[in-house]
Amino acid sequence: LNGSRGASSHSLTFLLSICPATAGMEGSGDEFLKYRSPLVSRYASKEMAFNFSDRKKFTIWRTLWIYLAKSEKELGLPITDAQVSEMEAHVEDIDFAMAAEEERKLRHDVMAHVHTFANCCPTAAPIIHLGATSCYVGDNTDLIMLRDGFDILLPKLARVIDRLANFADKYADLPTLGFTHYQPAQLTTVGKRACLWLQDLLMDIRNLQRAREDLRFRGVKGTTGTQASFLQLFQGDHDKVEQLDKMVTEMAGFKKSYLVTGQTYSRKVDIDSLSVLASLGATVHKICTDIRLLANLKEIEEPFEKEQIGSSAMPYKRNPMRAERCCSLARHLVALVSDPLQTASVQWLERTLDDSANRRISLPESFLTADIILSTLQNITEGLVVYPKVGLLYTQDCHEKIRVLSQQAAAVVKQEGGDNDLLARVQADPYFTPILNQLDDLLDPKTFIGRAPQQVARFLTEEVKPVLEPYKSKMDVKIELEL
Ligand SMILES: *[C@@H]1O[C@H](CO)[C@@H](O)[C@H](O)[C@H]1NC(C)=O
Ligand SMILES: *[C@@H]1O[C@H](CO)[C@@H](O)[C@H](O)[C@H]1NC(C)=O
Repeated sequence: LNGSRGASSHSLTFLLSICPATAGMEGSGDEFLKYRSPLVSRYASKEMAFNFSDRKKFTIWRTLWIYLAKSEKELGLPITDAQVSEMEAHVEDIDFAMAAEEERKLRHDVMAHVHTFANCCPTAAPIIHLGATSCYVGDNTDLIMLRDGFDILLPKLARVIDRLANFADKYADLPTLGFTHYQPAQLTTVGKRACLWLQDLLMDIRNLQRAREDLRFRGVKGTTGTQASFLQLFQGDHDKVEQLDKMVTEMAGFKKSYLVTGQTYSRKVDIDSLSVLASLGATVHKICTDIRLLANLKEIEEPFEKEQIGSSAMPYKRNPMRAERCCSLARHLVALVSDPLQTASVQWLERTLDDSANRRISLPESFLTADIILSTLQNITEGLVVYPKVGLLYTQDCHEKIRVLSQQAAAVVKQEGGDNDLLARVQADPYFTPILNQLDDLLDPKTFIGRAPQQVARFLTEEVKPVLEPYKSKMDVKIELEL
């Protein structure tokens, strides 16, 4: 298996025939027989991968069953302390093999996990999931995972903003050629250009914060969302049902639950979460495309490892591979938002179950993809290399005369492969004799950068600094990037 590069399709068929997908897959090399998402196997941070793992998900399910039992007990249902502490003692020891076996029998993941939990909590068995529907654990857990996903992404985004702000500050008055139509236009500064990127990222961090703050809990709503089963449990006591919803919501760390739900929380919530991530994807795609264009112009380069090989055939090449990866993944992030858009559109009445398989993919993938993009961008922005030599295209105020001379100079460059000799031509032209001794000043690029440095300073102070304030204690985290 390890040397599978040379394996013929014949031996591959053989391998597959002796290793049917249902056989026990533990053991060395078996993971190479199954598709693995590169989002996890290659790129994602341990933190984000863990936070969308089965371990985390089913631990939250058990925790939610404990919140429910505790609240029901406190509101007077016959549940004992012993039952609650038995459940609390078994939050972590999930028998995944048993759960899988139960699910094969029952064809129902929630009931499979209720049985598996009950198996290690015999005393509590009769009251686990009391009055609840599958969405009590399913939907509430998704909302917790979305919230935690944002909590991982937000400081990462803040770090990228911080690194780019340092970069913008450092190069606030370094002139560089600005482009429109990707044709040379007028000068700007390296730092000013970085502020254009920063401004977009500031919109993203605001959007992410807002989407995170808007998340509510589904809470305790029962089948079709009417709370009928709980009203029955509390013998018609509406106040107790409301209190139960409130208690569980607060235990899970949410301020509010949605006052009305169908069987599920509205799938518009998924649109909201994934569209702010898709919007971040668009920002990152633009920034990294700019970096790739500038790398070609030899103005900026992403960090380059001593050992890194740009091209096997052309060893001198320094490819902007991190920026390329960001663009590649950002495109996926942007594409992913069409899933919740369509899922929300096609929900029928109080619920259908055609959302489930799609959400299982689109929600985690969006967070994992955003996580990878931000790690990579942090690495890029911490190591950006600037080459300060700027092209001599300062023809701004020297009207027609300069235009003619610069066309002549350009012809030398384009047709004869020579150096740009515009400056020499200007010095030799009698037209410019009266101002020859001021020429250096006039041609000083700083004359042409307008208010760029002042704009950078004001923007960094007024707009960037306050946004970073809440993340101050999380600024020092280093990124381990898999190249
Ligand atoms: C994510 O998972 C890590 C463990 O890898 C944990 O320490 C951290 O608290 C989790 N983050 C959130 C926001 O849940
Ligand atoms: C970027 O990632 C590479 C690969 O892990 C690492 O060697 C390099 O030090 C990182 N650069 C910065 C600035 O962290």
